[in-house]
Amino acid sequence: MTILRFQHIMSNEIAKRAFISRPPEPPASVLLNDPFKSIFIGNTKIFRVPFTWSFLNITNPHIAVVGITGAGKSYFVKTFILRANYIWGTNAVIIDWAGEYKAWVNQSGGTVVSLGKGSYINIMDLSGMKPLDRVKQIINSLDILTDIGTYPEQKRLTEEAIEQAYVNAGFTLSERAPEGKDAPTLKDAISLLSEKLQEGTYEYPAELENAIYRLRQFAREGEDYFARKSTLELSKLVESGLVDIDLSALSDDTFRALAALFILQTLKELMRAEVWSESKGLKTFVVLDEAWKVASDEKSDAVTIVREGRKYRFGLIVASQNPTDINEAIFSNVGTNFMLRIKFEKFMNYLQGSLNFSDFIRSEIGKFGVGQVAVVMAFQTALRFPETFLLEKVKGEEPLYVYTIDLADMLTQSEISSGIIQREYQFEKDELKNVLIDCNLSNEDITSIFTTFDQQDRNFKMNDFINSLRSHGARVGDIISFLKNLGIPDQLITRIMGAQNG
Ligand SMILES: Nc1ncnc2c1ncn2[C@@H]1O[C@H](COP(=O)(O)OP(=O)(O)O)[C@@H](O)[C@H]1O
Ligand SMILES: [Mg+2]
Repeated sequence: MTILRFQHIMSNEIAKRAFISRPPEPPASVLLNDPFKSIFIGNTKIFRVPFTWSFLNITNPHIAVVGITGAGKSYFVKTFILRANYIWGTNAVIIDWAGEYKAWVNQSGGTVVSLGKGSYINIMDLSGMKPLDRVKQIINSLDILTDIGTYPEQKRLTEEAIEQAYVNAGFTLSERAPEGKDAPTLKDAISLLSEKLQEGTYEYPAELENAIYRLRQFAREGEDYFARKSTLELSKLVESGLVDIDLSALSDDTFRALAALFILQTLKELMRAEVWSESKGLKTFVVLDEAWKVASDEKSDAVTIVREGRKYRFGLIVASQNPTDINEAIFSNVGTNFMLRIKFEKFMNYLQGSLNFSDFIRSEIGKFGVGQVAVVMAFQTALRFPETFLLEKVKGEEPLYVYTIDLADMLTQSEISSGIIQREYQFEKDELKNVLIDCNLSNEDITSIFTTFDQQDRNFKMNDFINSLRSHGARVGDIISFLKNLGIPDQLITRIMGAQNG
């Protein structure tokens, strides 16, 4: 006897139940926002829906981008901030650890500030702050970057000397500094400590010596990037379009981090000074690309910007090849995660653990090519669709190079003039790269073939192309499957391969 019974039911009723399966992607109504108020990123992998990003339906505008070197993090960030600028007039301040954005920002008409190469910041500059608050920030940075936290007496001495330097320069510690008044520098604070040491009355001279030594590393001749009059107008930073703070010329990571922390502190102050406005869109994106301790330390203002940014229309974009370098507080507070290719299991475990995506997504991430990405969004409402989905590829602004393989040398005159046989085959760079990978060529071989291609205006005659594949070690079988995949008739394949042997 059967207890199975059929029921008459409307399909919308069934849809409401959603009991059998979850859809593989969020619905188009979520993915596709008003193109005048959102940023196009790329098409989804399964349903090919154009995904446009808007911060309106997610918990906050902050973004994390992770992936191995070369996966396409910086490319994504460039595409993203450029479009945000078109759509909302959003400003961007890029803290550019490795100088990766310099050329692009120049090209896009933005401003590049190369610290250590003609540009300096005085970390005692106030940009409208109270000296007391700035002193706290400086000590906080030293806490993150040096061992000062383990020596309370040295910390106290350093703090006092910095305060005294402000007082000697005519500032009142607890009052907002007037515009245009020059701040003292760390060199002044060091002089005060040295004088104290020379007086010989202080009980623990070793503590003084160490405090002086620690500060001196930021004020040495030639490395005094932070102890000279500032050459940039900090107060304009958040409203100057595209600004690249290039840190690559600084001589080590501690200097880069100090600059980055200082810029973040300043941005935070400027952010808090923002009057709330009704206007739509985002005012400023702060970009931290590969920023080491700056993104990982709890005390860093990257964390503050993430916590408070939404209400001031400030967004933080943090990109890193090592997701464990991104502080938990940041990671758990970003509204959108873009995961490009990840290789290391421990990073994958970490990401899967905190973002909760399926094993299917996990295995896809491990196989990604350049620009392919999994997106995780924290939507504001509880939903019945997945928050993680795949994009075919980040569609960027770069010129799309087309590579052509020309069969003319393999065809008879009448075949060419009759047009029954396709003469040219065109590929996008990645498509062609995949062909070469399928032929089991090594990375060096692939690069070498592309170099030849580029030298010939991205054109290859079929015969020469096959020759080149073979001289790089491709097997005949693989070459034949490639030709078959192009849809070339067998007869012609025989002719092409025959030309090889002859
Ligand atoms: N979505 C994409 N489409 C086309 N080219 C890309 C894409 N993403 C990255 N690339 C190219 O790949 C290379 C590495 O990208 P990059 O963004 O510098 O990687 P990462 O910052 O992750 O190390 C660059 O030459 C870049 O132009
Ligand atoms: Mg990069």
